[in-house]
Amino acid sequence: MKRIFLLLFVVASVPVFAQHDPYMCIIPAPVSVKKAKGDFKLTSETIVLADSPSNRAVKFFAAYLKKAGLGNSITDLTILDKDHRDMKNAITLSVNFKGDQPEEGYELNITPDHITINGRNAGLFYGVQTLMQLIQKDGNGNATIPCGYIKDYPRFKYRGMHLDVSRHFFDVDFVKQYIDLMASYKLNNFHWHLTDDQGWRIEIKKYPKLTTVGSLRAQTKIGRAAGVDSELYDNTPYGGFYTQDQVKDIVDYATQRYVNVIPEIEMPGHSVAAMAAYPELSCDPKKTYKVRETWGVSEDDVYCPTEENFKFSTDVLNEVMDMFPGQYIHIGGDEVPKDAWKTSDFCKQLIDDRGLKDVNGLQSYFIARIEKYVNSQGRSIIGWDEILDGGLAPNATVMSWRGETGGISAAQQGHDVIMTPGSGGMYFDHTQQKSPQEPFSIGGNAPLSKTYAYDPLPAALDKEQQKHILGVQANLWTEYIATPEKAEYMLLPRMLALAEVAWTPLANKDFRNFSQDRIPHHLGRFDKEGINYRVPTAIGAMDTSVIGARFKVELSSPVEGAKVYYTLDGYTPRETDVYYTTPLDIIVPPKNTMHLKTIVINPSGKRSIVTDMKMENK
Ligand code: ACM
Repeated sequence: MKRIFLLLFVVASVPVFAQHDPYMCIIPAPVSVKKAKGDFKLTSETIVLADSPSNRAVKFFAAYLKKAGLGNSITDLTILDKDHRDMKNAITLSVNFKGDQPEEGYELNITPDHITINGRNAGLFYGVQTLMQLIQKDGNGNATIPCGYIKDYPRFKYRGMHLDVSRHFFDVDFVKQYIDLMASYKLNNFHWHLTDDQGWRIEIKKYPKLTTVGSLRAQTKIGRAAGVDSELYDNTPYGGFYTQDQVKDIVDYATQRYVNVIPEIEMPGHSVAAMAAYPELSCDPKKTYKVRETWGVSEDDVYCPTEENFKFSTDVLNEVMDMFPGQYIHIGGDEVPKDAWKTSDFCKQLIDDRGLKDVNGLQSYFIARIEKYVNSQGRSIIGWDEILDGGLAPNATVMSWRGETGGISAAQQGHDVIMTPGSGGMYFDHTQQKSPQEPFSIGGNAPLSKTYAYDPLPAALDKEQQKHILGVQANLWTEYIATPEKAEYMLLPRMLALAEVAWTPLANKDFRNFSQDRIPHHLGRFDKEGINYRVPTAIGAMDTSVIGARFKVELSSPVEGAKVYYTLDGYTPRETDVYYTTPLDIIVPPKNTMHLKTIVINPSGKRSIVTDMKMENK
């Protein structure tokens, strides 16, 4: 699969979107936007000035212009005299401006003659991202940018998106596209879930069997009859892993986009793939382990806290730290069944020798030892909230996924926290609407509105404790997500809601404006870029039963360029049916029932699920 993601000049042909929206259709909504009259015309003659031409943001913008066929060269502003600095039809990208700005903040000023972006480090990059969102192609092939003044900075410093590549493997091109998408919505931490029971996906030179054995499973569970835990398998071998060169290439790609990559190496649970390669890592080395073919947690197959295991884990982490230069290494720590430890003579002795309370204490001992090693290398660990059980390792950051309780408790103990609760709409493997028409998913429902409504700052924490909430993340677990198209479907548009949760001040959040005024524009862009997404149902369409004799229904399209087709005769609507142009005035005869069924179909043929409003005139 080779699909390059860059939002080029293929956006709406009618550049009216920004005119009525107070946020100029920017996602995430900025801190402040002042709209102004007129447009800046971007052509190949436009001069791009930069006071730091080798800056990542400048290079990124230059590459963007080149891809768009404009190819404007970048002029070093510092070699120009005063007169030339004010030339018309110019874009200035500046890091050496006077005055302060919040971390990652920027100012973007667009007038008919000039565009200026002031921002340092990631700030300049985010200013460029906002500018790129504003570029509109007019009907004559010219690009225009509506005038305005934007001041912006993030609410949270950690804005994360996770991808599970163990349950299903996603290739380098897809991972890069994922990072592109994150960067264009100002998300800055890519949590890469690289190892799990169902496959080890990263080359470790010292332990080659991790990939020659641990990356391959004989078959995959496909039990997908909704609501039935069917034991169907595909009887097809499955595998894949990233070489160290590929990993470094991805980390570099992300760095160019101000995205930090956090590798997750699961321990001591979720480690069956590693034990299939090296059974001596387990408490029962005589047993045969095979890379897991089904989902859920293995009852008793976890690492044994032996010296041999610590040597293995620290060796692996050494190679991982060489590939990932960021501060954080995620060591998992979730869902560790302790049955094998309870019956192991070695573990019983270890608990006695170390004066530990029980097997929870043993988990704590394991994580604390790993943390000590990671800290000794100048790095920090993140773990899922189970690392609280039996006592937190001294410097660990906690990812709160089982609700917010773990995160609240960790923050109260003075630990940093990243909020990612499944109950808060942060699990993107959940469905986006409760409907049998949605693709099969592992369970749970997280509609766009739920994700959007999440606030990562729990009221249970006081102001000081709230400072430990570094930010927020959504997770894409891939048990039933086997293709890039389905990954995109589950990701979008919810990732845009996550971006707004992570970036936008609470006072600027407004779900109606987000979902009805801004989302349609962004989905139209994805459509033209060949990126899959869930087509929302028509705005104003009801999917329920109502009682009455007359119904006035106003609908609109949730995707720019798409049409809403409908039927009143009970048939499933499709493109051969009438499409909505004007409000409907439906009269249901006495003692009759009618159905208003709608579907949204976009220009490339993508479609929403069908809504059914059953109207009964009793
Ligand atoms: C998790 O969902 N097991 C972190």
